[in-house]
Amino acid sequence: SFTPTKDDKFSFGLWTVGWQGVDVFGTAVRPAMDPVHAVEKLAELGAAAVTFHDDDVVPDDNTRGQVLERFTKALAETGMGVEMMTTNLFSHPVFKDGGLTANDRQVRRYALAKVLRNVDLAAELGATTYVLWGGREGAESGGSKDVRAALDRYKESMDLLCAYVREQGYNIRFAIEPKPNEPRGDILLPSIGHAIAFINDLADPELVGINPEVGHEQMASLNYAHGIAQALWHGKLYHIDLNGQHGPRFDQDLRFGAGNLREAFWTVDVLQGAGRYPAYDGHIHFDYKPPRTEDEDGVWETARGCMRNYLILREKVNAFRADPEVVEALEAARVGELNEPTLADGESLADLRGASYDPDALGNRGLGFERLDQLAMEHLLGVR
Ligand code: GCO
Ligand code: MN
Ligand code: MN
Ligand code: MN
Repeated sequence: SFTPTKDDKFSFGLWTVGWQGVDVFGTAVRPAMDPVHAVEKLAELGAAAVTFHDDDVVPDDNTRGQVLERFTKALAETGMGVEMMTTNLFSHPVFKDGGLTANDRQVRRYALAKVLRNVDLAAELGATTYVLWGGREGAESGGSKDVRAALDRYKESMDLLCAYVREQGYNIRFAIEPKPNEPRGDILLPSIGHAIAFINDLADPELVGINPEVGHEQMASLNYAHGIAQALWHGKLYHIDLNGQHGPRFDQDLRFGAGNLREAFWTVDVLQGAGRYPAYDGHIHFDYKPPRTEDEDGVWETARGCMRNYLILREKVNAFRADPEVVEALEAARVGELNEPTLADGESLADLRGASYDPDALGNRGLGFERLDQLAMEHLLGVR
């Protein structure tokens, strides 16, 4: 088993399996991949949908019509959806100082026009999420960017985009993807928290959420599972980018499950509802890069691996939550007690202040968290 079906709602960026391996130190190691071929192979492997940047599919205006015709035919034939689309505002030299927050006003206007055009296509193809990853929105040095002005311009663009989507009646929500650095020295909206704070100051915050990526939070030494739990708490988890990363270093974009496996376990647990909440019902989207060591067979191996690892972890997480010893350990660790309000109904602060406490006794009590974590670890390691 662990063979995905469309009901699992797995999706992949076309730029992931299609990555040719061009990096800072080396040239392409794999030939360009036809998006139609990617759609067919991903469908065969059990994925439900694809996602893409404008330039991944329609880089050239001269062939746009025929390319789209062939592409939509492949989608129809395979039953694959396009659940999310995004704009490439980072590859072309015009975006070397960013798109929506470039100092140069002409660049900003061009960038916004590029986004708008692809939002129209997203609506046409039925994508319901539109991602904005501001990889080039940032700086390498202190004086070159007025951060407050840049945030004004970011907000201006987001407000214009939201108004446009409302006006057109598109069924699309935006999702901002935070990243701390790479390719810029420092990127604006570097973490989940920065992005959510920014969104709450937009004119139409309902239309904007976030698209957090595992590796991007971990590059900043942050806990991804905690990050998406907070995003869910704010009602802002509009999309996810799952992949793997070994701690704070360059963006590794490994397949899901590689890198920090324990955090992957807790990530799936949060997405499955952590034994208490409704499960995340959006697409389980992978954004990773098959390492340069792989040929095309290796690429499909990594795509299969992303989905299998998710399904395996989902089974482990469900077994963990259903294990009577875990239920007991959770109870002993008072995890459920955190749901009780600190001040009971009808109580006042005077009741709380007037009560008597025995801090020494409370402080002497062991919390039993290690036992709970060992149980999780043993489920993960496959010995329970
Ligand atoms: C990264 C980013 C990108 C974006 C993608 C969508 O790894 O730095 O995740 O892959 O998600 O380009 O715009
Ligand atoms: Mn990444
Ligand atoms: Mn991403
Ligand atoms: Mn990526």
